[in-house]
Amino acid sequence: MQSYFVTTPIYYVNAKPHLGHAYTTVVADALARYHKLSGEDTLFLTGTDEHGDKIVQAAEKEGKTPKEFVDGISARFQSLWPQLGVANDRFVRTTDEQHVRAVQKFLQKVYDAGDIYFGEFGGHYCYGCERFYTEKELENGLCPQHQTKPEFISEKNYFFKMSKYLPWLREHIERNPDFIRPERYRNELLGMIDSGGLEDLCISRPKSRLSWGIELPFDKDYVCYVWFDALLNYISALGWPEGDYARYWPGEHLVAKDILKPHGIFWPTMLKAAGMPLYKRLNVHGYWLVRDTKMSKSLGNVVDPVDMCQRYGQDAFRYFLLREMHFGSDASFSEEAFVGRVNADLANDLGNLFSRVLSMCAKYCDSKAPEAGPLNDDDKAIAELSAGALRNFRQLFGNVQFSQALESLWELVRALNKYVDAQAPWALFKQGDQLRLGTVMQVLLTAMRKIALCVWPVMPQASVTLLRQLGQETPDGAAPAVSLEAETEEFALLTPGTALASSSNLFPRRDMPAPAEAPAAEKKKEKKEKKEKAPAAPAEGEITFDHFKAAVLRVGTVRRAEKHPDADRILRLEIDFGEGQLRQILSGLAEHYAPEDLVGKQVCAVLNLAPRKIRGLMSCGMVLTAEKDGKLCLLQPADVMPDGSVIA
Ligand code: MSP
Repeated sequence: MQSYFVTTPIYYVNAKPHLGHAYTTVVADALARYHKLSGEDTLFLTGTDEHGDKIVQAAEKEGKTPKEFVDGISARFQSLWPQLGVANDRFVRTTDEQHVRAVQKFLQKVYDAGDIYFGEFGGHYCYGCERFYTEKELENGLCPQHQTKPEFISEKNYFFKMSKYLPWLREHIERNPDFIRPERYRNELLGMIDSGGLEDLCISRPKSRLSWGIELPFDKDYVCYVWFDALLNYISALGWPEGDYARYWPGEHLVAKDILKPHGIFWPTMLKAAGMPLYKRLNVHGYWLVRDTKMSKSLGNVVDPVDMCQRYGQDAFRYFLLREMHFGSDASFSEEAFVGRVNADLANDLGNLFSRVLSMCAKYCDSKAPEAGPLNDDDKAIAELSAGALRNFRQLFGNVQFSQALESLWELVRALNKYVDAQAPWALFKQGDQLRLGTVMQVLLTAMRKIALCVWPVMPQASVTLLRQLGQETPDGAAPAVSLEAETEEFALLTPGTALASSSNLFPRRDMPAPAEAPAAEKKKEKKEKKEKAPAAPAEGEITFDHFKAAVLRVGTVRRAEKHPDADRILRLEIDFGEGQLRQILSGLAEHYAPEDLVGKQVCAVLNLAPRKIRGLMSCGMVLTAEKDGKLCLLQPADVMPDGSVIA
């Protein structure tokens, strides 16, 4: 059986896990599940990085010993992951005995091979990064990460002959286009090597300065540099040189762009020096921003993944993460974008498909998979579409293009919804054409089953529920026992008589959250400005400029329009205000405009009216109209404006 080994970075234990840590770990979990679903012998590793100055300082702050401190936080990481549906097979800690032994063994091996030497060294040390910077690497004399002045430290240390391996590494990266992906990070690494700024790596710290680390096996006055120690987790967790090492190594790594250099330069040269095979692939993703701003404690915009899962469910959260970020690029998080995506893709598309098909099966087929007749051209087109969608899904998913993989699966979901409309099973039922009705339902159920299987890596809980609703036996906690390849190429209908659920309501529509408050820093600035130019009190019947400014008025384009299912005079509009997702606004326009005439039109609207429910649907804003003799006329900008343009 083919083996597959995937890792996340091991996270520092000086901060609480946030959206960024959750993303990498959910991606690794999804990849591991995907390979399990493909029948491979899979191992998924995550863990915590527990040595270094930062830990000592954080422990001191809490009045704990470093060990007490790391035990507490590492436990917090371990208990977090199941709440996100993450099922790692192993958890490594750099304070594990097994890890310490492996690091010492590795150091000795490289030392014996003559690739570690002792030398005098002076360098610019950044305490934040826990590393030395060369003159060239500094930006205006400051650490490029922290923008602080590093301290010049001169001391005797041990060095790894990294520069000796750089020409070889360059060639390896050139020759193996898949070794580092996506391509932009491969180019970044080649640029780093070509810049000539890389030297030998200082891999020790004198104990007199730092004692919380792994002692060098060849000099008890020194401990190992944290990165040299941390990178070895990927093999120590396998029990290197024995244990599962031979079974799973080499594997592939997932990291964000912040730690490209240690993974793309230090780690492969370390492996080469020890005469070991290199990892198969380094997959590098971008950063999650929050409303286009870096997440930070001081801005108060750190997104808590557990809170999101508790409020919206782990499946919806995982789906959003994988669908929204194009692997390799940065992505922006906002709760509005999240709710918009979940409503559109999960409630409207997937949820609606399951809900309508299962309730039709209850009405027309006694909640049992029916007998089917021969497939006509429409049915065969769906079977072909299904094969194409699954082929693309598998190719893209394995290529870490999760967003595109899900999009290709959703093309099938949307095609099935259209197929329902076109085949009109309710009409076939009325006509008493039971065989054709059975065929249509079987085509739908068969394709839905394949979709439910494919989403298992992304939405494990929902996948199991959907499969069970389709009467499919599904093991608890393990991958569904199927062959994805066979599922792609064959369109085998459900066994007639299979018991189906009579309804499905897995993804309810969510209300759009109230517009987010400005971050604390911005609010403070606004308050100060307000105080400086306090306006004169308004006269009776007037409003101040601040009152007017409080209304968020924007231009948007109507993308979808339809009648409210339960209110004759109301249209349900989905409007693009440049927010990254469509906003739903209900408007009393049904007697004045046909829905199809509104699609593509620009409108002006107030966005920060408190959302309200009208006959079961939420309206998040108000479209502006003018009225004459009871006739409503939409207000529009005189020229076509970009969506989201401010009205003032
Ligand atoms: N301990 C080192 C890694 C050693 S691996 C041998 C470390 N730890 S960390 O806690 O800082 O984690 C960094 C990783 O967390 C990133 O590479 C990424 O996986 C994840 N993220 C942290 N913030 C992130 C975002 N804002 N966006 C996306 N992922 C980010 O570095």
